[in-house]
Amino acid sequence: MHRNRWFIALLIFGILGIGFADTAMAKRKKKKGPDGRALYKEYCKPCHMADSDNGEYTPMSYIQDQWTRFFDEQYEETHKDVLDPNHDNKPVTEAISDDQLQSIRDFAINAAADSEHPMTCG
Ligand code: HEC
Repeated sequence: MHRNRWFIALLIFGILGIGFADTAMAKRKKKKGPDGRALYKEYCKPCHMADSDNGEYTPMSYIQDQWTRFFDEQYEETHKDVLDPNHDNKPVTEAISDDQLQSIRDFAINAAADSEHPMTCG
């Protein structure tokens, strides 16, 4: 009986411990790397503001699945021939580095319409 109680106590502490470690890691992850929101503002917003001919797109224009599909399947195809006048007229896909795109992608998905904190990019 005694042993059982210890076992359960340990189990509960174990689960709590994992929970804490997880939140701590999630917090650290958020801080690290380039700021997706700032990057979105610099690299996406100029072409996708309200009333833009290319359509207005902010993170909350799409749900998370749509952003995932966009970055996985559409972005390269629909942006490789689009020149970005704000970045030396390079094709969008070249103006934005892989690291930067990863941050923009994380930001868009984290702020999507069905995320916990839907956002425009401000
Ligand atoms: C230099 C202008 C320009 C920049 C910069 C730009 N886009 Fe686009 N975007 C376009 C054009 C042009 C289209 C195609 C519109 C069409 O086909 O009607 C488009 C289409 C889209 C679409 C609609 C789906 C699709 O693939 O057609 C989404 C979503 C999108 N862009 C998001 C983004 C994001 C996110 C960024 C930043 C990583 C970005 N765009 C940067 C010009 C731009």
